[in-house]
Parts: sequence; structure tokens; C-alpha cells
Amino acid sequence: MTEFQPRVFSGVQPTGNLHLGNYLGAVSRWVPLQDQMPTIFCVVDSHAITASFPNPQELTDATREVTAAYMAAGIDPKKSIIFNQSQVREHTELAWIFNCVARMGWLNRMTQFKEKAGKNKENASVGLFAYPNLMAADILAYRATHVPVGDDQKQHLELTRDIAAKFNNDFAERITELGIGVPNPTPSPELPENLYFPLTEPMIAGPATRIMSLRDGTKKMSKSDPSDLSRINLKDDADAIAKKIRKAKTDPDALPSEVDGLKDRPEADNLVGIYAALAGSTKEAVLKDFGGQQFSAFKPALSDLAVEKLSPMTNEMRRLTEDTSEIDAVLKDGAEQASAIAEPVLKDVRKIVGFLDVR
Ligand code: TYM
Repeated sequence: MTEFQPRVFSGVQPTGNLHLGNYLGAVSRWVPLQDQMPTIFCVVDSHAITASFPNPQELTDATREVTAAYMAAGIDPKKSIIFNQSQVREHTELAWIFNCVARMGWLNRMTQFKEKAGKNKENASVGLFAYPNLMAADILAYRATHVPVGDDQKQHLELTRDIAAKFNNDFAERITELGIGVPNPTPSPELPENLYFPLTEPMIAGPATRIMSLRDGTKKMSKSDPSDLSRINLKDDADAIAKKIRKAKTDPDALPSEVDGLKDRPEADNLVGIYAALAGSTKEAVLKDFGGQQFSAFKPALSDLAVEKLSPMTNEMRRLTEDTSEIDAVLKDGAEQASAIAEPVLKDVRKIVGFLDVR
């Protein structure tokens, strides 16, 4: 290879309910990428057991449900590879090697681990601590170059680049000797001339990189928030969506006409961002239309837009999950296509590391 083939990889954990943050921050942004470069979208079930093992049947159901959400949102199995992570063994094999590349100090800095482990760090699983190494393996098993995610994954993607850089450096001679490197597209003194793994580009952009809780504009919308009113789930019906938006926390002022006026108004900023992302527009454009209006006028408009955009998806998800055969067939085909890419990569990696191959 003379250059890295552009390739998108991203994923969602099958834990709890998929919500508007997952949709606007990630899945909806994947759809147009399908026409720009090869795309791989994974349901990351191996990640879903790191906090604690879910009920096994619920994990199976959630894996199908996330697949249904991908498809209902417009991820087309004819254009993209869709599969569940545990079906392609190369992820966990590469993660082990990355466990031996990444340094304790790097992982100790991960804010998501600190948040998820909470006060009881000693009781968190080793898997939760090593989670970012598995995420790096997900991406690099395909030598993916672009990863579209929400803002909360930024630190994990920086770690992925650090792992790729250290591997490339530690094995620079070997990679050149084996003739399997790719000339570094952006030469720098910190990296060798030939790389095996690309330094993946995070794609974090648009008005919805960080959707906040509807109950508290300073907290991220999340699957684990105990209040269901804090988030819009992709399975919510029109009444539930309308109720949650009606009850969403706001401040007493009218909407500003300029984006600057959203500063220090986290709830207003969040709702305007959600509107912009759903409408495929920008906060500026939304404020042009709604600047000066009260939330009593803006909320019904937001609610109508959310129902209009989300209901067809919810219905399609319901249809797809009624019969598991279509989803399972998509996942099976996807796992075969994913393996065909990841297997040769791991073959190279074993060679680079020096594992004896006698089979
Ligand atoms: P997960 O399952 O927590 O979230 C899936 C995607 O949704 C985005 N997201 C949000 N975006 C905006 N506002 C929010 N409130 C919000 N909440 C979640 C996340 O940023 C993510 O893009 N570690 C990952 C899954 C993963 C992965 C990967 C992603 C595993 N391997 C490889 C990319 C590449 C995670 O737990 O996402």
C-alpha cells in the first residue's frame, strides 16, 4: 500500500436505551459518510460488559435493537458493514496487544473511567479500566482513518492515536523490514517514515456533539441517568417526546437572536442545538427564526420537529425488531465482511510482534 485507504469506523454500546444524544451526536452523522468512503458500523457488545454484565437476554435484545436503530436511521447494509463486535475475534486479540502498548499512566488519565468507576475504583472491573484499549483495537483492526463520534469520546480517540504512534515507533524497523508500512502522510520528527497504523482523525462537529440532559443543561444526556425525563429515547412515542420537551428545564428569558446570547444559558443552548441538529441547520439559523420568542412558543415547534423526524425511525425500528431474521442476516453478513478486513491486519500484527506462526 502506498497510502492508507480512507475508512470510517464507529460504534454504539448496546446498553440501555439509545437516546437522542447517540442519534444526533453519532448515528445520524454517519449516514452521509456512506457515500463518501468505505464505512464500518459496529454494535460494540464486548464494551457493554465492562461496567457490569447485563442480563444476558437483555444484551442480546439490545444488540439487535441497536442494529435496528442503525438501519432505521439510514445506515444501509448494502453500503456499510454492520456487525456486532464479539463476532470478530480480532478486536479482543488486538486489544490484548494494545494492553501491552498503552501505559498505566495514560489510562489513569481517562475521565470516563473516573466517572464510571466513581468512588469505588478498587471495585471496578479491569475491563472497564482497559476499555479504551479495546476501543483503539476496534478502530485499528481496520486501520480506520476517520471516526465520527460525540464529544465525550474525544479523549479515547487521542489515546487511540497515542497507541498507534507508540506501536509505529516501537516496531518501526520491523515494519520497514517486512515491507508492510505506509509512508507517513504527514511526516513529523515524532514518527517514523513508515507507519503500520494510521493516526485516526476524530470527526466531532456540528451543533450536536454534546447533547445535554433535558433536566439539567450542565449534565450530558446519558443512558444511565436515573430520570427518564432527562432524555428522549429513540423508542419514545410522540406523546412521550412532547411531554419530555414540555417539561424540559428552561430559564425565564426569551431566546436571543445571536448565538453569543446563549452563553451561560445551558438549557437554552441545548434546546436550540437539538433543534438545529434535527433540522439539519445551524444554531444561527434557528435563532434567526426564533430569536425574541418565549419557550412557550419554541417548545411546541421543537416538539413537532422531533416527532416528525423521530417517529418514522421509531416505527421502522419496531418493524425490524419484530422479526429477528432480517437483522441477524445483516449482522452475519457484516461479520464476514469485517473479518475479511481484520484477519489480514492481525496476521501482519502477529508477524510484526514476532509471534511464531506454525499453522
Ligand atoms: P456510547 O455507546 O456511549 O455512545 C455512542 C455514540 O453516541 C455519542 N453520544 C453523544 N453524542 C452527543 N451527545 C450526547 N449526550 C451523547 N451521548 C453519547 C458518543 O460520543 C458515541 O459517539 N466507547 C464508545 C463506543 C465505541 C466506539 C468504538 C466508538 C467503542 N469502540 C470505536 C467509535 C469507535 C461508547 O461508549 O459510545
